[in-house]
Amino acid sequence: MDKSLKRSLVNLKDFEDEARRTLPKEVYDYLAGGAGDEITVAENIQAYNRLKLCPRVLKGVGDRDTSIKVLDKQISTPILIAPTAFHCLAHQEGELATVKAAVKANTIMIVSMASTVSLEEIALTAKEVTVTYKPNLWFQLYIQPDAELTESFVRRVENAGYNALVVTVDSPVFGMRERDIRNGFHTLPEGLSLKNFDHVNSKKSSGEKTTLILSAKLTWEDIDWLKSITRLPIFIKGIVCPDDALIAMNHQVDGIIVSNHGGRQLDTLPATIDMLPQIISVVNHKIPVIVDGGVRRGTDVLKAIALGADAVAIGRPVLWGLTCDGEVGVTNVLNKLKHEFDLTMALCGCSSVKEIKKHLIYSHTTP
Ligand code: FNR
Ligand code: LAC
Repeated sequence: MDKSLKRSLVNLKDFEDEARRTLPKEVYDYLAGGAGDEITVAENIQAYNRLKLCPRVLKGVGDRDTSIKVLDKQISTPILIAPTAFHCLAHQEGELATVKAAVKANTIMIVSMASTVSLEEIALTAKEVTVTYKPNLWFQLYIQPDAELTESFVRRVENAGYNALVVTVDSPVFGMRERDIRNGFHTLPEGLSLKNFDHVNSKKSSGEKTTLILSAKLTWEDIDWLKSITRLPIFIKGIVCPDDALIAMNHQVDGIIVSNHGGRQLDTLPATIDMLPQIISVVNHKIPVIVDGGVRRGTDVLKAIALGADAVAIGRPVLWGLTCDGEVGVTNVLNKLKHEFDLTMALCGCSSVKEIKKHLIYSHTTP
């Protein structure tokens, strides 16, 4: 990347603008787009902008620490990489570039089941990065209608050394993605495939080949079943309603990801950040809560934590970084957001993530 372009990529929005210029329109639209009128896509971002901060001063913020612990592992920031499909659409190195950036940044990449590099190759690449700590990888699972197939995925994920399973529950069917319909974008371009299924299909004849299927029949019983077949911690991704958070707790899940799938599934849902406080009051800090959707600024990260989240995850910004410059692009996106978050902590009077509390959110009723 030339120097002047690099200098012009100051914030996460700049990466998106640059990605829009370089990607084929149908690919950009698939990555950026959402369901229906994309009201929720916009709302996820606007809700953060509506929240205002109320900083504290003279708090001695010379020594700051942005690190947190999730599932007893220390990571450098409360900013995780949300699972997104098909990284090879954005860059030829695909998920391998993303995972190298994630490991070097000492954060968690949640690898999508719909990856364009196999889960084994991603885990191996993570292990090959020279760092002093253990890479922290989670795997996002869509429970398949075929239980045997799902179980085979769980075993592969365990064998490859992943640290947690993230079960996405907001997708009994695909959302109405109108940009994709208009662009006729229904299949992956030549040369790209759902690599995790190569392994499954290698032993099958062409008539029997299988691929990722969304299962509309799933119920909480499937979560109990999943728990019964693995010792990996299980996060439920796609909780929006506080009542579901309560049910998830009753089913003894290990964590919740508050998510509306970046507005890609059901349109006119509220922003996740607006639902977070009610979910936090149900969960009451008994298990970790991560929120995703619309996080674009360090101030957004601080707001989510102030409202009770343990961490945030980012989806599209990683894909924009990947598009702009592969691994380096993802590293830049992660670094910029971390830097903004660190500055926000300082300007709000916080030296550690634990000090980030609700009083930092401005409210008309705050005494
Ligand atoms: C996603 N998301 C997603 N989620 C999931 O559980 N499995 C997946 O395979 C995908 N794939 C996917 C592809 C693309 C292109 C996008 C943009 C998103 C949803 C993702 O994990 C996350 O919930 C949102 O992306 C968060 O919103 P932001 O950060 O993109 O606004
Ligand atoms: C998406 C799917 C793959 O959001 O989760 O495009």
